[in-house]
Amino acid sequence: MKIVLIGFMGTGKSSVAPLLADKLGLDTVEMDDLIVQRAGQAIADIFAAGGEPAFRALEARVSDALQDRHNVVISTGGGVVMDQTTWEYLSKNAVVVELTATFDTILGRINPAALPRPLFADETQAKALYELREPLYSKYAAIHVATDGRSVEAVASEVAKQLKEIDKP
Ligand code: S3P
Repeated sequence: MKIVLIGFMGTGKSSVAPLLADKLGLDTVEMDDLIVQRAGQAIADIFAAGGEPAFRALEARVSDALQDRHNVVISTGGGVVMDQTTWEYLSKNAVVVELTATFDTILGRINPAALPRPLFADETQAKALYELREPLYSKYAAIHVATDGRSVEAVASEVAKQLKEIDKP
């Protein structure tokens, strides 16, 4: 089983992935961590040095390496739906789960001091990106779980429940 969690920044992918993996007896992979390891640089430094294209190129390479991983919950970066090649690699044999949140909820969660997000530096631009990507997350996922006002545990349980339902013959 390969589960891919997608959604905008701040929808809780990184928090939900390990809990969900525990419930299902799977491993967890955090794509952003693999990118940082591969680059030997923090995400903000990758963007500062080579811009978004440098980051997307690394994201594509990491997705390629994950193509045939199984028994795993993959927590993705919010931009994986923007590049066709990246998305083909990631979605190969995967059950795709979208975590949603309103933009207001996301604003309350994003903490630039804890984790700098270069594409969330400007709130107006972030909102435009949110509106651009929402339809893609929605289209690519088989399961959609709203996270507003829910604990990480509640979201992970809901995802596990819906996965069981689609697994039934
Ligand atoms: C990005 C989201 C980030 C990270 C990078 C780019 C995006 O991950 O991959 O800053 O394009 O939305 P999170 O979704 O985990 O914040």
